[in-house]
Amino acid sequence: MNKQTIRDLPDEAVRGRRVLVRVDFNVPLEADGRVGDDTRIRESLPTLSHLLDRGARVVLLSHLGRPKGKPDPKYSLAPVADRLRDLLAGPDVAFIPASAGAAVVEATRSMRDGSVLLLENTRFHAAEESNDEALARAFAELGDVFVNDAFGSAHRAHASTEGVARHLRPAVAGLLMEKELEYLGRALATPERPFVAILGGSKISGKIDVIEQMLPKVDHMLIGGAMACTFFRAMGLETGKSLVEEDRVDMARDLLARGGEKLVLPTDARVAPAIDQPAAAATVARDRILPGAAMFDIGPASAAAFAAIIRTGRTVVWNGPMGVFETAGFEVGTRAVADAMAEATRAGATTIVGGGDSAAAVAEFGLADAMRHVSTGGGASLEFLEGKTLPGVDVLDERVA
Ligand code: 3PG
Repeated sequence: MNKQTIRDLPDEAVRGRRVLVRVDFNVPLEADGRVGDDTRIRESLPTLSHLLDRGARVVLLSHLGRPKGKPDPKYSLAPVADRLRDLLAGPDVAFIPASAGAAVVEATRSMRDGSVLLLENTRFHAAEESNDEALARAFAELGDVFVNDAFGSAHRAHASTEGVARHLRPAVAGLLMEKELEYLGRALATPERPFVAILGGSKISGKIDVIEQMLPKVDHMLIGGAMACTFFRAMGLETGKSLVEEDRVDMARDLLARGGEKLVLPTDARVAPAIDQPAAAATVARDRILPGAAMFDIGPASAAAFAAIIRTGRTVVWNGPMGVFETAGFEVGTRAVADAMAEATRAGATTIVGGGDSAAAVAEFGLADAMRHVSTGGGASLEFLEGKTLPGVDVLDERVA
């Protein structure tokens, strides 16, 4: 990576200084208000420990959810402070219900070395998402050094991810950010072959750029999820009530022609009259989807064929489920992909799960630790794989040769 990281900072840049760290603590909250899946918090611990061990005063900024630019107790980071306190087990972790202004600056100035101060949701300011200059400057006053460890938000040019770094130097990457960029970057730039990409999810429109970007690089591209149906339509097949993006059928036809044998589509499907009727599901060949049925998962023959290709891979990148894995009965294809990736990992392959739904699926199957890397970024990993510049990374200090 050509960006500086916290490892490039000399101890004196950190000891006793206020280190402002943008983390992505956008985690799910349970009905009782407590943190659900805390992966994103746990993944920030190496960066936090690195700084705390060096006597930094760590000030944390994050968003949570989409509160529409005004305070909303439903999206408070207070429960995250409790979980962080448990996970860090030692250092003081304080929380204040604000993220900018004189009182917050004052609070950062009265911190002790080796302590943590988590601030309230940055999106309680409407100016956060518009990357407002004044708010970016206000955030910059909260630290002496800026660290961006929020890979999951690196595709957003917001005041706390991009704007702040223009006003606070040094501005460097944290260890999670570094790890994410290295895994994804190496997979795209110097993949060990065979290189297999698995793409799923409902819509081809959300994946078109990643298909375009990766098709020339991979040896095999497996397509599952409802988006396979847009390809089926392009092949002239009946797709019944399946989700098809009519305005993308020509594009799918063009990709089929260009992809040739690299592009592998399901040969069978699990279909049902409706998503809430998994008990009525049947397996049919892809050219036997009836007008009253819709595809909710890839079929068993496709799952086996996909798994066989995945097991041959030395680099495997996966983004998007093969079916409606949240519904029992339609999770089989997604599980087969996850199992095959776990096997490939055991055989020494570099397996990378893009964040979002695929990461949720491997977590649900209990297979997160069986992968080489599970990204904490959904939209961010997708944009990275699309070859886009991530503004939260781009703004950081370059490494000098
Ligand atoms: C995510 O969960 O993908 C990130 O935290 C970004 O959240 P956003 O899509 O609401 O900007």
